[in-house]
Amino acid sequence: MNGRDLVRSVKVVGSAGAAQGLRTVRAAWRRKRADAVGLPQRGAERARVPGPVRGVEPGSGGGVVRFARSELRITVAVNGAVFWGWDGAEPEPSYALAGRCPEPDPRAVLEPDKDGGWRVVAERATVVVSRHGAVEVLTPGGVMLRRDLPPRWWEPVDGGTARWMQRSEVAADARFFGLGGRAAGPRLREGTYRLWNTDPGRAFVPGDDPLYITMPVQLVVADAATHLVFHDTSWDGVVSLREGEEGAGSGHDRTGSCELRVDGGPLRCWVMVGTPARVLHTWVSLTGAPALPPAWALGHHHARWGFGSEREVRRVVAGYQERGLPLDAVHLDIDHYDAHQVFTVDREQFPKLPELAEDLRRDGVRLVSIVNAAVRAERGNGVYDSGVAEDAFVRDASGRLVRGVVWTGESVYPDFTHARVRRWWGGLYEERLAQGFAGFWHDMNEPMSFTAFGESTLPRSARHSLEERGGDHREAHNVYALGMARAGFEGLRQLVPQERPFILSRSGWAGMQRYGGTWSGDVATGWPGLRASLSLVLGLGLCGVPYSGPDVGGFDGSPSPELYLRWFQLGAYLPLFRTHASSRAGRREPWTFGDDVVEHARVALVERRRLLPYFMTLAHLARRTGAPYVRPVWWGTPEDRALRDCEDAFLLGDSLLVAPVLDHGADRRAVQLPRGRWYDTVTEEAYEGPAQVLIDAPLSRIPVLARAGAVVPVRGSDGELELEVWAPARGRVGGGLVVPDTGDGWDEPEVERYVARWEGRQVVVRRDGEGGLSEPAYPVRVRGLRTP
Ligand code: GLC
Repeated sequence: MNGRDLVRSVKVVGSAGAAQGLRTVRAAWRRKRADAVGLPQRGAERARVPGPVRGVEPGSGGGVVRFARSELRITVAVNGAVFWGWDGAEPEPSYALAGRCPEPDPRAVLEPDKDGGWRVVAERATVVVSRHGAVEVLTPGGVMLRRDLPPRWWEPVDGGTARWMQRSEVAADARFFGLGGRAAGPRLREGTYRLWNTDPGRAFVPGDDPLYITMPVQLVVADAATHLVFHDTSWDGVVSLREGEEGAGSGHDRTGSCELRVDGGPLRCWVMVGTPARVLHTWVSLTGAPALPPAWALGHHHARWGFGSEREVRRVVAGYQERGLPLDAVHLDIDHYDAHQVFTVDREQFPKLPELAEDLRRDGVRLVSIVNAAVRAERGNGVYDSGVAEDAFVRDASGRLVRGVVWTGESVYPDFTHARVRRWWGGLYEERLAQGFAGFWHDMNEPMSFTAFGESTLPRSARHSLEERGGDHREAHNVYALGMARAGFEGLRQLVPQERPFILSRSGWAGMQRYGGTWSGDVATGWPGLRASLSLVLGLGLCGVPYSGPDVGGFDGSPSPELYLRWFQLGAYLPLFRTHASSRAGRREPWTFGDDVVEHARVALVERRRLLPYFMTLAHLARRTGAPYVRPVWWGTPEDRALRDCEDAFLLGDSLLVAPVLDHGADRRAVQLPRGRWYDTVTEEAYEGPAQVLIDAPLSRIPVLARAGAVVPVRGSDGELELEVWAPARGRVGGGLVVPDTGDGWDEPEVERYVARWEGRQVVVRRDGEGGLSEPAYPVRVRGLRTP
């Protein structure tokens, strides 16, 4: 795999390729040597299990159960989340948690259970601890959701970090989702999934694992309830999943299983039980509300590695304008830097960047800048010099700066696990703002270092502050990008307090939604890549990261016009709608794929613009409730097993169901509908769910269905907000939420609630406010009236 990095780095730097290739060889040796001396060698280990129960110590929200060789703390928090930790592990410190850990729920008490075990009964879950240390989580009705068997540790005899392993069982009908951004999802079938943020080193396909964002977060959906489980450790690990099987009434069900093996860190866990909506709400109350993007970020973005010059940027923007194609942002990649150095500008090709930014902004187009994590290791580079003065860069065990290789050559890496370093880095965005950039795109922050062999990241022995607790890269690696996102976010909050920061981060970890979103990374051009694009967005949403999207068209190569169009049509309904590609890839402007594609792309772009108020509403709801914009079709009815297995469609908010075309040559497709009536938004034909229906999907569009009764805020032809209402079925009441937003800033708009019902032969919409029902302040358009 890493030979590929070498090839890539050699290719990219062209004539300087040989030099770069040599650097990656030297860096690989350096890393190897650093770890040989700086990493504790794994010697003899002693295995340990908790042993039999010895006693308990009740406390608020639960208490501590003591075993012969360990102890288990259980606390139910006021938000209903259950925490348990072995060996004295507490909820804090944690990179995932936002601010303070929630208070314990004083109503949850530890009481004796049968066979010498103990239990804690709480409002949303019962936790039962067996006398050997198995932990069961049950629904309030007593149905088992998961059983965590007693863990096992392997401790180095001469001290140091213990590895641990835990096996769990889940219901036979349970399905697994999450674990961060996985190309093989959204449903995680039998297999092993690694927890180590990784740049795969080439455009990835569904078989590639792990990718840039891994998280020990699983959403488990079963008939009895949905639960989210989070093992709060940032260390490298492997999750092995196996779905269960039902014995078709024979009574021989096989439970599903999950085995987690982790190299270190506390063995502690949070479990949240309820409906999917309830579980996500609890999750973001624990790890932080998703950042609210500025309105422009919900429009269409065009990115490209290799615009190469201001002139080319203007040419592409003009191409959109001349054809009347909506465009809201343009992203500049590393080619606009001076010799690929972060926080610099190539003055020859981009001599008047602020002017360009201003001209574009006048036309409603924002500029977004890539920001690479690594800094060129060279005196005279301003960022390097100031970083050295700040002692900002990661060092090895003997105190030397750790050098890796990225686009710009030999580089050093800021230690984002130190508050002082984050402050310093956050201040650097001032230079970007002065160039006119409105948004930021964090890259190569796994962190990545090109290497001729071995792992393409920092040595595991590299030292990190870890908030001044001290530790090494084994613990800091997975939270590195999270720290970078925090640095950028907090810096921007200081520098431009009146604006909402816009940050995309390629890598990240649990809690990253607090600072922004992400994109797919380098998804391979091809139909499997298109499918993976949707998996990633769905999976991340279920981990609390609601804002993401793929490189439309794929990162490498040249998509066929059909593939490009289908990707574009899917992208138009995803939170981040961005075309992007490698410098070696073919063009990605819609008009380079022929007249038909431009016309169909225009329809998608115009529809996206029309739906902006709906997207903005979804952004606010994601922030307030944790519900992702893009939801699996089972979101509201997780007990519907046919939906649980459906991976090729999604709900966009409550109102729309989007069924993208993911197969070559398809001009219609099967759509699995949740219960209720659904209208094809183009033909207005009505379908009754639950059912599987066949719907036309000519090249001009992908099927999008609206739920009967939905009230959808859209942009009318005059640009003003309008309510599009889909007739409820007779005798039913519909409704929807609208969060009017001014586009940026920190005002807290009120959530407006609307109801739609039949009155005689008419569908009438009313605002349901404090003073009762009132006329909506917006024009209303009722659709779907043809169906009785
Ligand atoms: C990485 C990014 C990609 C970017 C390229 C050059 O491969 O994932 O989006 O275009 O680097 O900066």
